Amino acid sequence: MDLSQDTKNILGLKLPTDPRWVNLAEISLEAILTDHAYCEQKAATTCISIIQRYSDKDKLVKALAPIVTEEWGHFRLVLQELEKRGLKLGRQRKDEYVNALLQFQEKGGHPDDVFLDRLLTMAMIEARSCERFKRLSEGLNDPYMSKFYRRFMESEAGHYTLFIELAETYLPKEKVRARWETWLQHEKALMKEMEVRGDRIH
Ligand SMILES: [Fe+2]
Ligand SMILES: [Fe+2]
Repeated sequence: MDLSQDTKNILGLKLPTDPRWVNLAEISLEAILTDHAYCEQKAATTCISIIQRYSDKDKLVKALAPIVTEEWGHFRLVLQELEKRGLKLGRQRKDEYVNALLQFQEKGGHPDDVFLDRLLTMAMIEARSCERFKRLSEGLNDPYMSKFYRRFMESEAGHYTLFIELAETYLPKEKVRARWETWLQHEKALMKEMEVRGDRIH
């Protein structure tokens, strides 16, 4: 996938990641790898949950089944990098970013709205991960790690698109686009808030 254009434009993200983040990431690559491992694990388990909850939606089941394998493969790749460095997979850290997104999710309304928000939450996380991986890929001095993150960046960009497309398969495009815009605005505010607090995201 060609991501030569500004990722911010491609993904529609309203606020780019603080450029200082790559330097921070370089200092604590170990912590980044541990957090990253859990992100991949969560992506796989969330896809499984969506399949279980919406088993009646054939196209969705068919589309998400291979994503589970792919995300689990990502988890194993990150695990390998940890092992290579003699590091252990530590405890899962509280993920403020994902928790804040989950709080914004429509949970008790119309089933269509609940369904839409479950897919858009995934799209949001994939889009932001993609942007972060792009920054890591471009910002890290180690050519091996740079290539490592580029691979993830391409994969997560494809996932972001898939979740939006799946939403549009089952719901009117205008509804999906309008809600996605709301999510983007919300995420922008969240990113700003976390930046001010100095929180780490993934
Ligand atoms: Fe992934
Ligand atoms: Fe993904």
